Amino acid sequence: MNRQRHFLTLLDHTEEELQELLNMADQLKYEQKNGIAHPHLKGKTLGLIFGELSTRTRVSFEVGMYQLGGMALFLSARDLQMDRGEPMQDTARVLGGYLDGMMIRTQEQSAVEVLAEFAGVPVINGMTAFAHPCQVLADLMIIREYKRTFKGKKLCFIGPGSNVADSLIVGALKVGMEVAVACPDGFEPDERVLTWAETADGFSLTNDPLTAISGADAVYAGQWDAFFQKIPAETRKKVFPNYQVNGILLRNAKPDAIVLHSLPARRGEEITAEVFEEHAGEIFAQAENRLHGQKAVLLKLLGGQ
Ligand code: CP
Repeated sequence: MNRQRHFLTLLDHTEEELQELLNMADQLKYEQKNGIAHPHLKGKTLGLIFGELSTRTRVSFEVGMYQLGGMALFLSARDLQMDRGEPMQDTARVLGGYLDGMMIRTQEQSAVEVLAEFAGVPVINGMTAFAHPCQVLADLMIIREYKRTFKGKKLCFIGPGSNVADSLIVGALKVGMEVAVACPDGFEPDERVLTWAETADGFSLTNDPLTAISGADAVYAGQWDAFFQKIPAETRKKVFPNYQVNGILLRNAKPDAIVLHSLPARRGEEITAEVFEEHAGEIFAQAENRLHGQKAVLLKLLGGQ
């Protein structure tokens, strides 16, 4: 399988490819904001297979395809024959005959890999337990918008390891940021990502949020109750309180540090209501960038750009 033909995990893509996507996303955002139409995917179709709920991913892909001149089809996994046991290999080959591309949100990364292997059309990972590459494209966009450059900038992720943490570590290290992760013992990021990160410059992992946040330019509040983690409320309340992004912890970051969150946010858990509202500007701009970042991915994979 030619993995560059798909968007499955950021591990598959070089810094140059990520920078190209980010530049395309900035251009598409500029055009959208200035009323410059860009129907480069006229006549193209994208299937959106959702095995889980979504607000941002679903709407931004549907709107993104529309703005690019194409059409998106929402396909709830519960309404497909997959739910009655039709194998992914067969679903992939059938849908690949109708569609120009597919996005899938499902727990198993292996299911996304099978879809990509058999579909014959580009496949985009709309989030698995292992990776959330579309989210991180939007995250990198917003960091560059606020900080102008990645080089010499420090990103800190506070919270239990998750799909977002896994993709963020890979994406931010690839574009040249320093990445410090603070997570509770027993809730580290995926071992495959940690093994890879050890080969890159600028990565550190600790269970001390103060060490990780020190001098950070961007602080990422990791969800305590993310999809696919299902951490019981009792554990969250007992084990995670030191990993809350609050005003006291934030004093140790740079004074002009931005605060990021993939949403939905649980105020009073991973982030306080005060910090969330103080940084709502960048957090909702980050969410908006899901649209622009994914349009760049669609253009690259479906438009041959
Ligand atoms: N951040 C994110 O993926 O949001 P949704 O679950 O709403 O798509």
